[in-house]
Amino acid sequence: MGGQGDTGTAAPITVNDVVFTEATSRQRTLSWELNGASWAPPMTIEQYVGRETGLSQTALSANGGTKYYVLHHKSDPELIVSACEVTAKQGLVADKNGSREVTAYSIASVFTNPRFRGHGMASHMLRHVQQVVDKAGAEYGALYSDIGRVFYTRLGWQDLRSPQVLFHLRDDLRIPPEAVTGVTHLAEETVASLCEQEVATWKERFRRIAQQRQQQNISSSNTTHIIFLPTPAQLSWHFARDKYVCKILLDREVVHRGAQTTDGKAWISWDHDLREKKLKILKIVVGGEDEPPAKRKTDAVKLLLAAMAEAKEWGLPKVLMWIPGAAGGNHLGQGDWEWEWATAAATDIWREWGPQVQVVLEEREDGSIPSLRWMGGESLEEVVWEDSEYYAWC
Ligand SMILES: CC(C)(COP(=O)(O)OP(=O)(O)OC[C@H]1O[C@@H](n2cnc3c(N)ncnc32)[C@H](O)[C@@H]1OP(=O)(O)O)[C@@H](O)C(=O)NCCC(=O)NCCS
Repeated sequence: MGGQGDTGTAAPITVNDVVFTEATSRQRTLSWELNGASWAPPMTIEQYVGRETGLSQTALSANGGTKYYVLHHKSDPELIVSACEVTAKQGLVADKNGSREVTAYSIASVFTNPRFRGHGMASHMLRHVQQVVDKAGAEYGALYSDIGRVFYTRLGWQDLRSPQVLFHLRDDLRIPPEAVTGVTHLAEETVASLCEQEVATWKERFRRIAQQRQQQNISSSNTTHIIFLPTPAQLSWHFARDKYVCKILLDREVVHRGAQTTDGKAWISWDHDLREKKLKILKIVVGGEDEPPAKRKTDAVKLLLAAMAEAKEWGLPKVLMWIPGAAGGNHLGQGDWEWEWATAAATDIWREWGPQVQVVLEEREDGSIPSLRWMGGESLEEVVWEDSEYYAWC
């Protein structure tokens, strides 16, 4: 049906005029054609629909992993009013009851047809979606707000801090191959096996967190730790997206999915964002808490240099790292071992490579603000979202 997304005067509409439902495959395509107006460029709508179709077939999203919901006009199932996607995620929780594996979820691509904006449609759809995920027993969910902190908090979402480091690479920056030492590049399959190890490490860490609370008799503490696990399926969703866009826009294959230090202890994985012209770090791992801090920092510098070299090679002027470690909690950055090595490595790069590399530590306010919601909209006293890195975004 043509013209469903015409921008014109907003049409009056109320919740009585719409039907909430899981999308048919036709409604899913119509939703992509509609929201492509915002998210397709620099691809065409057709290319964008191709990417979204491909993503729906990835291990993460296939077989109901991602569910697509719409509000359609009750007079016409093909007139999409609002749409969004909900993806099931593997998670862990550690709280006063111990540690457990759970099914969590994330919500993305929240969109309202421009004709019907400002009439409470997206809010209405999200309330329905929240009921669906609660009923399915999902303990918590995430979304990344591109529209500030007000809209989603009104719907019961808790917005978290969003620190990041942005490396601006000047045109005249040259990174000679001999500067990128002590690392080898990673192919997709190797990242998958590193992810398996990382998942096992996090399960162990969560068991320890829960155990320590019991031993120290702090079970009355109300801090809840959660994580969205960096599973192979989660990372390969990003790789499929990256591969498609690089092929369509540059006719280029992605070969390097990241890098690893030669001792195998630290690794990084990235995504070439041609739309935002950034190399985005999906995940960076530098040893464990028991690794000496100086070694962690040196490894992080090596990996970040490999990322900067990759960005230069692809003509991307920025490298973006969401600061790894825990988001949320009031202790952000204080005594947090991941915060320490990440900021120390960024400072070293600034010292050694400035002014050709400008290093900016900032709060991300213009997009991707991590937000969490607990089942039933319950508000938790203190949540610590472990490993809140870009890999969990989708
Ligand atoms: C955001 C969006 C889904 C809202 O849909 P909607 O049906 O108009 O939403 P509702 O009527 O339920 O709520 C409107 C509220 O959205 C918020 N909002 C919408 N666009 C916003 C923006 N760009 N920045 C901040 N808040 C915004 C406002 O709080 C607004 O409330 P107000 O009318 O009192 O100012 C719609 O504007 C849209 O599709 N935008 C483009 C895609 C997008 O940015 N999606 C969000 C991704 S996180």
